[in-house]
Amino acid sequence: TLPIPRDTEKGFPLLEIQHFDISMDSLLISSEAKQQLEQIIREFKDADIFATYNLQNKRKILFCGKPGTGKTFSAQIISSVLQIPLVYIRFDSIISSYLGETASNLRKVFDFVESGTWIALFDEFDIIGKNRDDSHEHGEIKRVVNNFLQMLDNIKGDSIILAATNHQYMLDPAIWRRFDDIIYYELPDENIRKALFELYLRPIKKDPGIDLPKAVIMTQGLSPADIKMITEEAMKLSILDSRHCLGQGDIEKAINKFSRREKVKNNQMGDK
Ligand SMILES: Nc1ncnc2c1ncn2[C@@H]1O[C@H](COP(=O)(O)OP(=O)(O)OP(=O)(O)O)[C@@H](O)[C@H]1O
Ligand SMILES: [Mg+2]
Repeated sequence: TLPIPRDTEKGFPLLEIQHFDISMDSLLISSEAKQQLEQIIREFKDADIFATYNLQNKRKILFCGKPGTGKTFSAQIISSVLQIPLVYIRFDSIISSYLGETASNLRKVFDFVESGTWIALFDEFDIIGKNRDDSHEHGEIKRVVNNFLQMLDNIKGDSIILAATNHQYMLDPAIWRRFDDIIYYELPDENIRKALFELYLRPIKKDPGIDLPKAVIMTQGLSPADIKMITEEAMKLSILDSRHCLGQGDIEKAINKFSRREKVKNNQMGDK
């Protein structure tokens, strides 16, 4: 394969090759989304058989949904299960201020991807949606997108191309058409939140009086990444308190700390 391509002007690497070993079981998502992921993996493995029927495995997939729901994580899992390295591309970092530059950066990234078999993730694909309002940037971003779509249409090789966004409602129909499958990551329902608490609290001993159903209700509307953060905080509280045994108080304190953090983030502390 080719050397890692770099930004023509500033010299920073345009992508990163990453290796993971994460099992499918650590991803807790809707059964629809899980089935879609599993089919993509199975289709890749059966690509040769498909070819004899003139069929092609799904290889251009769009992940969308709220932050912290498992989009980037899913790319790491596909890479783990298929044992193919992940080529990680921060889409916003290759969008240079000069269009000519961006086109050449994109070309270099696609040349690299075509030089091997990879799971390629164009992460933070959102840039396409984010700059919609800014009319000056809009035209430029639109050209970048068209450029990207052209390269996506003509890509050669067996790599699986993933793109992740949390601004899916802003994407053009032209973009939707290009993807063989679209996976939607929902916020977790009660059952999934319960499973997340169980998964992330597995390492620590628990008080028999712990009320997980209550924690599940208190965390309505939160993402798996939020719940992960809460469980880590709760475990730390019990360790710092030298109990090493998780109590209901630790969980609720951690949830309250999290809500406070969200209030600060959303400018709801009441101080204008
Ligand atoms: N569905 C899930 N099941 C289990 N763990 C999850 C799930 N979603 C997220 N996590 C945990 O939260 C971390 C962050 O999630 P991830 O980076 O995949 O979010 P994302 O959907 O890519 O968000 P963003 O839109 O902000 O990029 C993961 O590395 C994983 O530890
Ligand atoms: Mg992500």
